[in-house]
Amino acid sequence: MIPPHIIDDILSTARIEEVIGQFVNLKRAGSNLKGLSPFTDEKTPSFVVSPAKQIFKCFSTGKGGNVVSFLMEKEHYSYPEALKWLADKYNIEIPEDKPPTPEELAAISERESLYIINEFAKNHFKHNLHETEEGSSIGLSYFLERGFRKDIIEKFDLGYCLNSGDDLTKHALEKGYRLPYLETVGLTKSKEDRHFDFFRGRVMFPIHSVTGRVLGFGGRTLLVDKKIAKYFNSPESIIYNKSEILYGLYFAKGDIVKYDNCYLVEGYTDVISMHQAGIQNVVSSSGTSLTVDQIKLIRRYTNNVTILYDGDAAGIKASFRGIDLILEEGLTVQVVLFPDGDDPDSYSKKVTSEALISYINAAKKDFISFKADILLEENQNDPIKRVQLIHDMVHSISLIPDAVTRTIYTNEIAERFGVEKQVIHQEITKQRTKHTAKGSGADANETSVLNQYIASESKKQAETDGDAGTVASSAYTEEFVEKDLIRILIQYGANAVEVNAQEGTIEVSVAELVHHELLRDKLTFVNPLYTEVFQMIVEGLEKKELYKSSYFLKVHNPQVVSLVTEFETSNYDLSYNWLNRYNIDVNTELDKLRNAVMQSIYVFKLIKISRLIDGIREELGVENIAAERIEELLVDQVIYEKIKISLAAQLGRTMNNA
Ligand code: CTP
Ligand code: MN
Repeated sequence: MIPPHIIDDILSTARIEEVIGQFVNLKRAGSNLKGLSPFTDEKTPSFVVSPAKQIFKCFSTGKGGNVVSFLMEKEHYSYPEALKWLADKYNIEIPEDKPPTPEELAAISERESLYIINEFAKNHFKHNLHETEEGSSIGLSYFLERGFRKDIIEKFDLGYCLNSGDDLTKHALEKGYRLPYLETVGLTKSKEDRHFDFFRGRVMFPIHSVTGRVLGFGGRTLLVDKKIAKYFNSPESIIYNKSEILYGLYFAKGDIVKYDNCYLVEGYTDVISMHQAGIQNVVSSSGTSLTVDQIKLIRRYTNNVTILYDGDAAGIKASFRGIDLILEEGLTVQVVLFPDGDDPDSYSKKVTSEALISYINAAKKDFISFKADILLEENQNDPIKRVQLIHDMVHSISLIPDAVTRTIYTNEIAERFGVEKQVIHQEITKQRTKHTAKGSGADANETSVLNQYIASESKKQAETDGDAGTVASSAYTEEFVEKDLIRILIQYGANAVEVNAQEGTIEVSVAELVHHELLRDKLTFVNPLYTEVFQMIVEGLEKKELYKSSYFLKVHNPQVVSLVTEFETSNYDLSYNWLNRYNIDVNTELDKLRNAVMQSIYVFKLIKISRLIDGIREELGVENIAAERIEELLVDQVIYEKIKISLAAQLGRTMNNA
């Protein structure tokens, strides 16, 4: 933990233009500095640094933030790592950590103990493989027969667990490692007071963390008995969370960044064989389809994934859903199919490295075309299936966050299926509206808040009560309305507005006004990030402090910083926001500012009220509801509907005033 005042020190000392200048050649452009984005290999500069605001924005990738966010993006540092880097550069001393509490110590020492035990086991298994009779005649000769080279066996720390029963456990206990920890990491199984090695008689594949520590093991049997599981794997523990780990990433990350691409294969042996063939940017999700956490892990290093499959049609179709998930996270996906019966491991053993690389390059297709090929091949002459297929393709395309990429695929699919582009495009738009209604928030700033709001309200009126779609669509709007109010608070919170009070016209800050209005109706944000920002503002008010957006660019939460950067740098469609549309000077046009703020507040309140009414309708639709409860609900509903009408009227007035 770096003490907060030191973080403040670092943030106020560091100059973003100096730091970024170490990575990017920056040239003056007005009050800003401009250069080629370090995140893409663009030819025309779209990367802007503002020394005045101490932020950067990359217009080709959308990345932006303060100096810390930059280091986190560019160097893949964690937040504390980025701060330490800056402290080092600017000679700011970070004091030694204060001693950890006993609870912290216990947690640390458990975690550390587990790492240490795995490290011990890894070394013991390696020793077995190379230095014991059983290990080398059974384990090592197995690897060599499979064609693994010695240097690769060494690099991946491969090992062998003796078949004797409790060789590892015995040695570990002799060395003073504790039995409960051995059991936690799954190396030892106990039955009453007898203990034996879980992996006995298996060759061992240690699974490394991103920084190279051993988190767990996969152990492969050498028996061909179909009834025995081919692999045993370590159980989940505080250090081993399967869904957040990629086998091989530790060895792959450098080349993933270098080639801006990550190969994804099925198993341990595929990763190892690819390395042996000289391809190092390769990871495996160990036999299961990728999880979102794993995709995010890859995205720290690249936005491009190439999946290497063995050519089994059933397996490929089963994986389509998993691939949609990757598209949805905004990565590009390419696919390479190996000849039937071959996987990267077996294929790489049949041909030279050069032949393997040229095969991959020749066979790779982007996922959308690949999927179309497979599906078309199957359903060539069936018109009904063709329609389904188009829907299926449209679904995959609609998940892609980037509009340009979507358009490219739209055109391709239209051509291949002989359908009008416009039709595909409409279908995609429809699907996307559905996704966003589910709350993913994509495209949030493509339409104005008010239009969204009006659309969702009029849709509701047209629909019958209790329709599930209605609730979902207001979920989308709620996020959007909350964001707009937070934006107003961040950008104009410290500005003054005039309001009518009992004692006449008084001047208050926008922050106070919003706080007062929300408090009065006990309204809160549902989005946790906005909740946190609002909390900061409220705490500021308690200390009689008003924060400008520059303040939020220096807070310690990188998510807040990137939100504020988004507000500061996007050409926000400010909806009903006159401030931007008419370029009004907020300091002189108090009225206009107040109108904009009040509208944001009214829309916010309307949304919250609509949610309450939705909730009531939903509850009224439930069967077996008690009669008294129905009465209660109906009374509430009438009250809320009244409030809603009055809010709508107030909103209408502020709009006419503008
Ligand atoms: N896997 C597993 N448990 C099993 C079978 C497979 O955890 N019982 C995982 C392993 O991570 C394995 C991957 O799924 O690496 C792919 O399975 P498979 O292709 O059967 O194994 P390979 O690693 O390719 O092993 P080999 O080449 O020896 O067949
Ligand atoms: Mn395999």
